[in-house]
Amino acid sequence: MAKFKRNLITTALPYANGPVHIGHLAGVYVPADIYVRYLRQKGEDVVFIGGSDEHGVPITIKAQKEGVTPQDIVDRYHKIIKDSFEEFGISFDIYSRTSSATHHALSSAFFKKLYDEGKFVEKTSMQYYDEKAGQFLADRYIVGKCPHCGNERAYGDQCEACGTSLNATDLIDPVSAITGNKPELKETKHWYLPLEQYEDWLKKWILEDHQEWKSNVYGQCKSWLDNGLQPRAVTRDLDWGVPVPVEEAAGKVLYVWFDAPIGYISATKDLTLEWEKYWKDPETRMIHFIGKDNIVFHCIIFPAMLKAEGSYILPDNVPANEFLNLEGDKISTSRNWAVWLHEYLRDFEGKQDVLRYVLTANAPETKDNDFTWKDFQARNNNELVAIYGNFINRALVLTQKYFGGVVPERGELTDYDREVLAEIPEIIGRVEKNLDAFHFREALKECMNLARLGNKYLADTEPWKLIRNDEGRVKTILNICLQIAADLSTLTEPFIPFSAAKLRNFLNIGPVAWNRMGDQIIPAGHTLNEPGLLFEKIEDSQIQQQVDKLLATKKANEMANARVAPAKPNVTFDDFARMDIRAGKIVAAEKVAKTKKLMKLTIDTGIDTRTVVSGIAEYYAPEEVIGQQVSILVNLEPKLLKGIESQGMILMAENADGSLVFVRPDQDIKTGSEIR
Ligand code: 2FM
Ligand code: ZN
Repeated sequence: MAKFKRNLITTALPYANGPVHIGHLAGVYVPADIYVRYLRQKGEDVVFIGGSDEHGVPITIKAQKEGVTPQDIVDRYHKIIKDSFEEFGISFDIYSRTSSATHHALSSAFFKKLYDEGKFVEKTSMQYYDEKAGQFLADRYIVGKCPHCGNERAYGDQCEACGTSLNATDLIDPVSAITGNKPELKETKHWYLPLEQYEDWLKKWILEDHQEWKSNVYGQCKSWLDNGLQPRAVTRDLDWGVPVPVEEAAGKVLYVWFDAPIGYISATKDLTLEWEKYWKDPETRMIHFIGKDNIVFHCIIFPAMLKAEGSYILPDNVPANEFLNLEGDKISTSRNWAVWLHEYLRDFEGKQDVLRYVLTANAPETKDNDFTWKDFQARNNNELVAIYGNFINRALVLTQKYFGGVVPERGELTDYDREVLAEIPEIIGRVEKNLDAFHFREALKECMNLARLGNKYLADTEPWKLIRNDEGRVKTILNICLQIAADLSTLTEPFIPFSAAKLRNFLNIGPVAWNRMGDQIIPAGHTLNEPGLLFEKIEDSQIQQQVDKLLATKKANEMANARVAPAKPNVTFDDFARMDIRAGKIVAAEKVAKTKKLMKLTIDTGIDTRTVVSGIAEYYAPEEVIGQQVSILVNLEPKLLKGIESQGMILMAENADGSLVFVRPDQDIKTGSEIR
């Protein structure tokens, strides 16, 4: 790392259109925070940048749905997200936002420079326009029939029924989601970054000069580059975002993926007057922490933008992670399939570190991984409590008991003591090596190995058996244990900072620099504080509550999904008019013998009195329905059901759980009235 003087660490800016969940934390923010805390402990110059991504179409859609402004939406979620990160100890030097004045000015100037220097190409294309709303429609704002599966509610960018990605112009009978109007195709002009011009440069920069990047990142870049790059539009017809600073672009904004990464620069500018030192001096090492869906933007598009601009440095590494699943299913905001950080904090107060620990131990570094509540409990109870907490507790309690909480002198060392002490720098070295390579899971495993070493040392030396006859030996043993404890507080600080601080408090010491680990940090004669528990067991009932919550979500989703029947093909008005539907009255009702579902109804239709067999017996009792008004299709061909001729059909609506309710006039109406 010697060739760099300072570090600029960025984390993907989450969209401010919802709270953050464990997937965000596991993939991006916890690994970045571990890395930054490690660098700081080593005394490196580092700035740690975060912020909310506050532009883009989903935010405008959410605002429209709620009848508020996009600014209201981002204000709400920016606060929730910022608070969650703070509570989880993500130690940003600044957590900024892209609706800020600094950001608007900087991203606007960035665009203008490239524009003035002729770095963009201009292109016109045909795009849907909603005359009534007076605006071009983003793909998500256009709804129509999917050409592949016939789903009537497919979006202009994707059909959610069959999963196909679409162009808005593929939709059959498109309508505007804003007004319901049929949109017209209209010419519009946009500015494009000609990525193909950067292809050769990118190939060399990534495929040759950055072969050390993680294989998932390198592989994705290679596949993009092998497929050939296309010009990318960097402007949009939308009224929410950074206005394009060019007269002829009135009403257009920068594409959210153009302005968002510039947000890293604006945040640094808001943080320090020396921001250019971090962004323009090649002795700065920039690292982007992101999830895998952001790879192309951070490895190809943003670097091409920076290269086009010309005065900025490029990332040295982009250690993107794969995704975290939850109990076997993809995390999904729309299906509410997530563990939301603000809810976790409410349910597991003070247990930030448990989640940080579990998400790191199970981090999706090389492949998608699964979070389960059972594993969460097991890692807490069997690792944090049983290994780490147990060692610390024994070391502290024994020191308290035998020496009144005063650190004893170290006497002569045995070979075994020396062996154990020699193992400490080995472990520290392996932690460092893994951290330097962004292998956070392995690094954490090694930390736990130090706690294991402590436990084994205590179990092997058994000071509780020696205390009566060999107090000197016990002093040495506990002195060594307390040194291991102090080292653990430093070594685990990047991963579980709250517990590390708690441990330092038990030990009555301040933060210790990384390079001092392995020294005798706590001198003999130093007084410890009262010992307490570093970690607590998590009970089955707490886990069951979380599992039940997810089961309820799953059930609600299944019901919502299963019961929305696919749309049927259109009918003509004449088809519809041929149906003779009347307001009828039930005058008699009885269950059909030997069936569960059927009820024989006698209906006064106003035309006549007739028999209808209806499948409602599971949902209504005969006595409940007598005297009720119903809607009845009277010109349906009669049909024999269980030996009874059914002369018509009662209209019923089906609930999500399959139960039926009557569709009937909402006021009493003359029997025989037509329904149409
Ligand atoms: O995928 C996302 O959540 C984006 N909001 C990430 C943006 S990262 C950066 F470029 F700002
Ligand atoms: Zn479809």
